[in-house]
Amino acid sequence: MEHDHLEREEKESFPKKEVQETISSLPRARGLALSEDLCQYQGFWVGLNALVGVILAQQHFQAQPTDIILSSIPKSGTTWLKALSFAIVTRNRYDDVNSPLLTEISHECVPVFIEFSFIQNKSCRSPDLPLLCTHTSFSCLPKSVIATPGCKIVYICRDPKDTFISMWHFVNSPKSTDPFLLEEAVELFCQGLSFQGPYWDHVLEYWNASLEMPEKVLFLKYEDIKSNPVFHVKRLAEFMGYPFALEEESKGMVQKVVELCSFEKLSTLEVNKTGKYKLRDELEFENRSFFRKGAVGDWKNYLTPEMAARFDQISEQKWKASGLSFNVTSS
Ligand code: A3P
Repeated sequence: MEHDHLEREEKESFPKKEVQETISSLPRARGLALSEDLCQYQGFWVGLNALVGVILAQQHFQAQPTDIILSSIPKSGTTWLKALSFAIVTRNRYDDVNSPLLTEISHECVPVFIEFSFIQNKSCRSPDLPLLCTHTSFSCLPKSVIATPGCKIVYICRDPKDTFISMWHFVNSPKSTDPFLLEEAVELFCQGLSFQGPYWDHVLEYWNASLEMPEKVLFLKYEDIKSNPVFHVKRLAEFMGYPFALEEESKGMVQKVVELCSFEKLSTLEVNKTGKYKLRDELEFENRSFFRKGAVGDWKNYLTPEMAARFDQISEQKWKASGLSFNVTSS
């Protein structure tokens, strides 16, 4: 319905003139991102292409009480969270032999990206699936997400050092004509100049929201899921309103979801080794770029002790008062 409204309003110019004017008035910079400028919008550096969708979503997105919104900064575990959530929600439709996760990357299984749906004028809902995704910061989410009872948010994040290393590899993909040197990339990320950065502020907003509204926002850490996947898959299922029954648990259903969505399983599937994923018209990714190492602590192989200490100092400074930490320090 939001899109009928949009269609009527925006036939003459897309995006609307006022959206274009807003964007052209914003600070703009080159940051650690795929080949596009970042614009500073409401405190966060948003990719120029996504920003149109972020603003349109703020104006038009109407949350539903059944919506479950999966949120993250890219390279924090989005692909994994989508796979886990999809496997949990559809476990009565599919099993570990016929799941669409075996033949499509999880981004295709959970196709609705709120901000990109608005750019492409696509529906914001998938038939029979309550899952939607976003990279938008908590404070920039459409107000109806917060105001609609029942609508829930699951946020995943990761030690900033590992997110950074994953992002650095991703933006320096083989196609990149102007690769970022490590030192330059560290500088940009630590200054907050990365896709949806400052990373620390993005994480902190969702952390605080999860403390204030635990029934609305579930805050997950990549490292925690890695160390105890069964516990966190049960927690995720319960939060989403799809709890595992005791009978399901005794049949090993939780373990099956964990195994189906594991890095080892998904990264070795043909579709994820050779397929491609088209996020929007001019943005296509090799599926394998979403599956690099899937490890905790890979930063140790790249960052100098000084670089790692810089990340940890920012974490300490930004997060200490909130009680948030990752316990994966450089010392
Ligand atoms: P690395 O680059 O450290 O290997 P996103 O999905 O947000 O883009 O994040 C990508 C990161 O998650 C990559 O990290 C990728 O390897 C890892 N990843 C992808 N699928 C995963 C899975 N099923 N389990 C654990 N990690 C996964």
